[in-house]
Amino acid sequence: MTAQLTGKVALITGAARGIGRAAAELFACEGAHVFATDVNQPDEPFANTNISFSIMDVANEADWKKTVQAIKEKHGGVDILVNNAGIGGSQLPLADENVADWNRVIATNLTSVFLGMREVLPGMRAKRSGSIVNVSSIWGISAVAGAAAYHATKAAVRHLTKHAAVTYAGENVRVNSIHPGIIATPMVLEDQAEETTAGVVAATPLGRMGKPIELAKGMLFLASDESSFMTGAELVIDGGYLAQ
Ligand code: NAI
Repeated sequence: MTAQLTGKVALITGAARGIGRAAAELFACEGAHVFATDVNQPDEPFANTNISFSIMDVANEADWKKTVQAIKEKHGGVDILVNNAGIGGSQLPLADENVADWNRVIATNLTSVFLGMREVLPGMRAKRSGSIVNVSSIWGISAVAGAAAYHATKAAVRHLTKHAAVTYAGENVRVNSIHPGIIATPMVLEDQAEETTAGVVAATPLGRMGKPIELAKGMLFLASDESSFMTGAELVIDGGYLAQ
């Protein structure tokens, strides 16, 4: 089988670890030139020479401009954008949330998606080709107690995706959202309370956490021409959590 992303240029945010890293590695194996970015350095360097890593804060407008301009100069533009970077925030219930945390989560999880799409859209529209994958969550579709800001941002990403999909479909730019259930990444294994994780796993029909590669494969499908008739859609990869 031929590689699915041969000759494509992909920009993936939050790619130092977790789902974003798995996507960077998979996309590079599929023939893409991958620009992996993150606000932190990866613990391990990338082995695949098709991956270039650079530091970028997704909440920072100037960082987006600098990164996309550098890609344009080197490769002519971005064919695929994966807006993956995200944080859980304080995970507090709404009544206990503070404004500083709220604003930090909005900036990192939502404003970032707006900034990223706005920066790559001119090039994609001119080329009449492009695929944007925005990472939402099961918490963008359903809710549990706690993590008010996280829920709000992930729901907004889901709908902003549909807005962009409808707006730019006429120029052959596709925009879809992906909705992970519980995935075994540092966000969950290191940053989330163990009882929260255990509760979500218990409520997951397949009875386990997903692996980052299982999400990356969904991102590959949405990024590639294999999903050429999909835009404004939601790809749920959650072990059956939302089917109940
Ligand atoms: P992770 O915490 O393991 O990796 C996220 C990466 O984003 C980190 O490398 C971090 O440094 C980076 N990042 C954070 N703030 C940033 C910023 N301002 N600028 C640039 N990079 C930044 O998380 P994971 O699990 O890989 O999550 C990836 C995406 O998937 C996130 O949007 C998350 O909300 C979403 N998600 C994850 C789920 C899970 O169970 N792991 C479930 C549902 C959604």
